[in-house]
Amino acid sequence: MKNVNLQPINRTVTVPTRTSLLDALLATQLEVPMACKGRGLCATCHVYVQKGEDRLSPITEREMQTLARISGVGSNSRLSCQARVLGEGVVVRLPEGMYFERVEDLYDLIGTRAERDILHPIDGTVLISKGKLITRSRVDELKRLNVEIEQLIR
Ligand code: FES
Repeated sequence: MKNVNLQPINRTVTVPTRTSLLDALLATQLEVPMACKGRGLCATCHVYVQKGEDRLSPITEREMQTLARISGVGSNSRLSCQARVLGEGVVVRLPEGMYFERVEDLYDLIGTRAERDILHPIDGTVLISKGKLITRSRVDELKRLNVEIEQLIR
């Protein structure tokens, strides 16, 4: 068993060796949209490894390709569905913002200001910035994006 610490929520979870970081996140009841269902093709499970990069499974070619097109990655970025926990004391930080998941959820928020950045689930770019008014026209635009995303990850 290995401990993994999650920031900024400062929760430590104990998982069996070789568990994916994604399963460690899910074990804390964090909601991870998993737009590509754990196939290493999207941004929604992206994390920053603050400590213990060498205690994770090596980065794969597919993971490298996906990270190369995600906005906001750093040299310590990993896709949590691809990285397996091999050693003790890994610390990861979750990106700020909320990944766009279902356009229907945004219709309920029209007329309000975004409480967090709303991020593109494939490339991680900011679709609606924190504090911006969520308008019907913007949500209609995102409805078209929703279709594109479904095609991309099919
Ligand atoms: S869930 Fe899509 S890359 Fe991990």
